[in-house]
Order: sequence, then structure tokens, then C-alpha cells
Amino acid sequence: MIDAPPYQLLDPDPLESPSLLIFRDLVERNLDAMIQIAGGVDRLRPHAKTHKSADVIRMFLKRGVRKHKCATIAEAEMLAEAGADDVLLAYPLVGPNPDRYVRLIAAFPETTFRALVDSPDAAQQLSQAASGRVGPIPTLIDLDVGMGRTGIAPDDAAFTLYESLARLPGLTPDGLHAYDGHLNDPDLETRTRAARAAEEVVLSFRDRLISQGLPVSRLVMGGTPTFAIHASFHAPGAECSPGTVTYHDHSYATKFPDLPFTPAALLLTRLVSRPRPGRACLDLGHKAVAADPSGPRAFLPALPDAKFIVHSEEHLVIESPSVDHLRIGEPLLAIPTHVCPTSALHRRLLVVVDGRVVDEWEVTARDRHLRF
Ligand SMILES: Cc1ncc(COP(=O)(O)O)c(C=O)c1O
Repeated sequence: MIDAPPYQLLDPDPLESPSLLIFRDLVERNLDAMIQIAGGVDRLRPHAKTHKSADVIRMFLKRGVRKHKCATIAEAEMLAEAGADDVLLAYPLVGPNPDRYVRLIAAFPETTFRALVDSPDAAQQLSQAASGRVGPIPTLIDLDVGMGRTGIAPDDAAFTLYESLARLPGLTPDGLHAYDGHLNDPDLETRTRAARAAEEVVLSFRDRLISQGLPVSRLVMGGTPTFAIHASFHAPGAECSPGTVTYHDHSYATKFPDLPFTPAALLLTRLVSRPRPGRACLDLGHKAVAADPSGPRAFLPALPDAKFIVHSEEHLVIESPSVDHLRIGEPLLAIPTHVCPTSALHRRLLVVVDGRVVDEWEVTARDRHLRF
């Protein structure tokens, strides 16, 4: 038995390792807390990239969460297949992807699919793919509010791009998307000030568009660190798009203690070797737990002082005086530092309720390609 409150596993011995365990009650609690923070389901658009699982989507749908966000065409397909009404694919579509997305849209007429663009080229390519094949795709522009990853600065070029969405066949202007993953200061006050400044940028750009008669139906903002802040941003059409909180992880749990979420996806690992005193090897290589960010890849509740020494494909070497008291084959729980890439490393999830594995779920959109 492993007892590491709030995690309990009554009989770990028959379970294979490494495995990803989903503590279902904790996921349910995280989902409820998301809805509570968002003030209801209308302003919530959770990101599916964290779990890529149709079973988790069904838990959201059961709670009335109809709007969803994703990063890949496979995730969009999984969402539509699971019954989501409203899917925003928040990733630039290039190469064959505009065509793939249009084929997906045509196959699910009951689902509203949205896209985003951040350049005239991307808008042109999406327009060409959509024109005459599907109804106009509600299209947002991706604003760069300081992260510098994707997006366009909210300037004249962005204005012209948004205006072009009203003229390009196959597209229709839908709103603004602004992801502020760079606003991750652990200090809540500092983070709040920065997030409010980002909201101001988005609002003043929206006002400029509206003053020229352009419709702006939605403002999709942020991820986990700024979730509770944007949740109190009451502009019409404002939506929040956290992802990680669905499962939550050790990185966010330690960095943002202001967030009321609990890590709910843990790895089951075993001590496979003790090459020398004080040193142990676990079956938790980077094919089982995400290799980012730098530093410890997971937190081991049974070995809180463990130092992370080497991480390779199938091995994680740690050091702690406590490992000498553990037997070879000892099962341990590990809270991943970064859960989103970790969940994509596993095909199936073991669902734990009251200390027992009661079900298996699939990581549905783990592959890049489903049908489309
Ligand atoms: C565009 C976009 N929106 C939302 C999110 C969700 O952010 P978080 O993982 O902090 O919940 C991400 C995360 O990578 C993202 O890239």
C-alpha cells in the first residue's frame, strides 16, 4: 500500500510501472474549482492539450462546459467526436493543416470550429482552404501581448489583418486571442498588475476595431497563472483558457500557491537498481516523465529530499540517504513537474478511485493524426 495523502494506492504490486495514474476525485475537484473561479461555464474555455483525453472532455461536458480550446487538429477532432459544441484551434495553421482543418470542419457540421491567424499569409491560406467548402470560419487574431512566441503586435498591421477577415472568403472576424504565458511571477500582486496591463492592451485594440464597425465577439485570454485574474475581467465576450489546472502539476503547485488546485495525475514508478549507497535508479526516464523544465522532473512524496542526478530515456537516477531503506522493486508515486508533456507520453491512464484502479482511459489525441 502507498499512503501519501491525498494519494492512496491500496495494492500497487500488480500495476505496471511506469504508469500514469489519474486520481479521479481530484480531477473532478479541479474541474469544479475551474468553474467556480470562472464564475460559471460561460467564460471558461479550457485547453485540452494537458490531457488530450476524451474521457476528461466528457467530464467537462457533464458540467456544461461547452467551449474548448486545443493546439492540434487531432485534439480538435477528439473534442468534436466527444461532443464539444465549440472548438477553438489556437495554433497557426500552415502547410497541409488549413486543408486538414477544413475537412474536419466539414465532417462535424454540429460543431462550431474557430481558428486563429497572426499574419496575412496564414489568413490567405486558411481562406483559400475554406472558401466554397465550409461556412465562414469564425477567426480570431492572435495578439502578442509580450510573450513573443506567436501573435502580432496590436498595431496598424494587426488592424488591417483583422479588417481583412471581413473580406476574405471563407472567414469571418470573431475576436482576439492573447496568451500571456510569460506572466508567471510567483507574487500574485506583481502577476495581477502585469495581467491587468495585458487586458488593457487587448481592450484598447478591441475598442479601436469596434469604433470602425468591426465585430469583436470574444476575447480569449491567458492560461493557468493568470486564470483567476482574467476571470474577474468582465469585458463582454471575455473567456479564460487554462489547461494545466485540469490535472495540475508540481511546478505550478509550488510556484502558485494562490491557486486552489491539486495535482491529480501521478506516475507510478519503481526502484529498479541501487548502484551504490545513497543512489537509486527509477524507471522514470524521459519516455515516461517530461524532460522539461530543467531541474527535478518530478517530486517524490516518499523521498522529498531526493536530488536528481541523471535523466535518460528509461532511467532516472536520484540520490537520497533514504533510498538505502527501500527495497529493489519498491513502488513509489511521483508528481510530475510538468504534466502536459508527461501525459502525452502515455497511451493509457489508470483511473484511481478510493485507492483502487477502477478504469482505464485512453490519451485519445496523443497521436498527431486521428482521421483527418
Ligand atoms: C495558447 C495557450 N493557451 C492556453 C494555455 C494553457 O496554459 P496553462 O498550461 O498555463 O494552463 C497554453 C499553454 O501552453 C497555451 O499555449
